[in-house]
Amino acid sequence: MAAAHLRIGRSAAGESIVTRVAVLPGDGIGVEVTAAAVAAVREAASVTARTIDLETLPYGAEHYLRTGETLPAAALERLRGFDGILLGALGDPRVPDNRHASDILFGIRLGLDLYVNERPVRLLDERLCPLKGRVPADVDFVIFRENTEGLYAGIGGVFKKGTPDEVAVQEDVNTRKGVERICRHALEQAQARGLRKVLMSDKSNALAYGHDVWQRTFWELARQYPGIEASHMYVDALAMQMVKDPSPFEVIVTCNMFGDILSDLGAQLQGGLGLAPSANLHPGKVGLFEPVHGSAPKHAGKDVANPMGAILSAALMLAHVGRPEESRLLEEAVAGCVREGRTTRDLGGPLGTRAVGDEVQRRIRAAR
Ligand code: NAD
Ligand code: IPM
Ligand code: MN
Repeated sequence: MAAAHLRIGRSAAGESIVTRVAVLPGDGIGVEVTAAAVAAVREAASVTARTIDLETLPYGAEHYLRTGETLPAAALERLRGFDGILLGALGDPRVPDNRHASDILFGIRLGLDLYVNERPVRLLDERLCPLKGRVPADVDFVIFRENTEGLYAGIGGVFKKGTPDEVAVQEDVNTRKGVERICRHALEQAQARGLRKVLMSDKSNALAYGHDVWQRTFWELARQYPGIEASHMYVDALAMQMVKDPSPFEVIVTCNMFGDILSDLGAQLQGGLGLAPSANLHPGKVGLFEPVHGSAPKHAGKDVANPMGAILSAALMLAHVGRPEESRLLEEAVAGCVREGRTTRDLGGPLGTRAVGDEVQRRIRAAR
């Protein structure tokens, strides 16, 4: 990186540190919500007087259509050198197969081996919950989604495509190592966060080969954590239970595909996709932080997208890169906006994307 981009901050311990963040706004509303998240990070860094360096990278549909490049190998290598990566969303109707989106998103998740997809579900205000009579204490859990294998391993093929005899196969890859590391992470995190309950969800009653390894691995590991109350639900029952009564859940660990689906369900429990953040992690390595939502093409360019999921993703990133104070500033600003109805239309408020971004910045500044 050019020296002009380098700015030095100081850790709480006083030593010189540089926090470097790569920003990939991506496509559609990703660009708009990322602008708000970046502005919030800059504002928080100015409040704490610790500069955070943010460098925007161009990879997305626009870049692909112009250059034919999705995520070059050299870019992936460069990403390893950052402390955090902030991503908007990918997906553009001008690229019908969204090849660029798979190359970039899976390129980063798999290329950096980010095997943990952490997706918190936290209700900020009871008015936002679609369930009757639920308060924030009832909706407060975290989903740890396996993020590198399962049905997403990209193994399969098509035979006799486009004919009446077409055969399409998509393999569900569950490795002992992959299952073990995500289950262990969930158990460790529960312990580290002072939580008691870890629930593993699979479909081992139907997927006798692929999910039996989840059963054996999870229960074997759970025995090593006597302070943790381990439990299991089949994913269909869990989906029902999340709607019927989400209050017992603390930590949920599951496979890639089920984690994807359950986290959209979880997003709605907290008020909608516009609010839900996520972190793609490999402990000890650079992480990728992105809202759970996609590029919502029909909302793009209209200043209606909710930037809070992106801002809360930036907050997760700040906490992860050793900036807890700035992280808290972002979270408190978002919570304040929600409390006072200073939100976009999806949450019932009167504001546009930019106005919510401004409001969040104003609240961060006021904390000075
Ligand atoms: P989506 O999340 O983009 O949108 C679904 C609906 O949720 C929207 O129509 C909108 O009503 C609501 N919504 C989502 N984000 C919102 C926000 N910030 N504010 C207000 N409302 C919001 O899902 P989709 O329509 O299924 O997918 C659109 C594209 O995004 C596809 O190409 C998909 O593959 C891609 N996608 C990308 C990512 C990613 O890059 N991480 C994640 C999900 C989907
Ligand atoms: C998500 C998204 C992606 C996924 C899509 C865009 C491939 O839905 O991050 O939740 O399925 O992982
Ligand atoms: Mn998803």
